Amino acid sequence: MEYTIDTSCNNIDFYQVHEILHFYGLSDLNVKQQKQVFENSYAVVFLRKNDKVIGVGRAISDGICQAAIYNIAIRDEYRGKGLGKIVVDNLLSQVEGCNVILYTHPKHLGLYEHWGFSKVKTAYAVYCDPQHYREEGFID
Ligand SMILES: CC(C)(COP(=O)(O)OP(=O)(O)OC[C@H]1O[C@@H](n2cnc3c(N)ncnc32)[C@H](O)[C@@H]1OP(=O)(O)O)[C@@H](O)C(=O)NCCC(=O)NCCS
Repeated sequence: MEYTIDTSCNNIDFYQVHEILHFYGLSDLNVKQQKQVFENSYAVVFLRKNDKVIGVGRAISDGICQAAIYNIAIRDEYRGKGLGKIVVDNLLSQVEGCNVILYTHPKHLGLYEHWGFSKVKTAYAVYCDPQHYREEGFID
């Protein structure tokens, strides 16, 4: 399948980015906030088929030693074609040399292990809405 990979926010239609992330319940930010979140990230990836955004992902990082990946999503009709791995691999290459963490949904633990990630035994978090994260199975 033909697609382009963008690693900058220039010329990206953030309504579509918002649409994809909202569709999966990965983010309830509005379009303006979503644009800000990606623009403020260290590394971004957008897969596009012509003008259609079909995959997204981003990483925050100090650019030297630590990074964290967020908002990995592939538009529903394009899932299962290897594009998710392309987004993740591209982000990893943009933060090469860093330790990279990734918080995923409990249902995707196996997927990221399949992609070479190791489960962290010592992670802690302070969530803004702990009740939500408790209900979703992120924390006890
Ligand atoms: C999760 C997501 C990004 C994956 O992208 P994708 O393009 O569908 O995935 P890919 O086709 O690149 O890779 C799928 C591979 O993972 C494997 N896989 C999928 N789920 C798995 C699981 N639970 N355990 C182990 N392996 C799994 C598949 O067998 C496949 O392996 P292969 O490439 O060796 O054949 C995509 O399905 C998506 O957008 N999901 C909804 C949004 C979401 O939940 N995002 C994750 C937030 S952290």
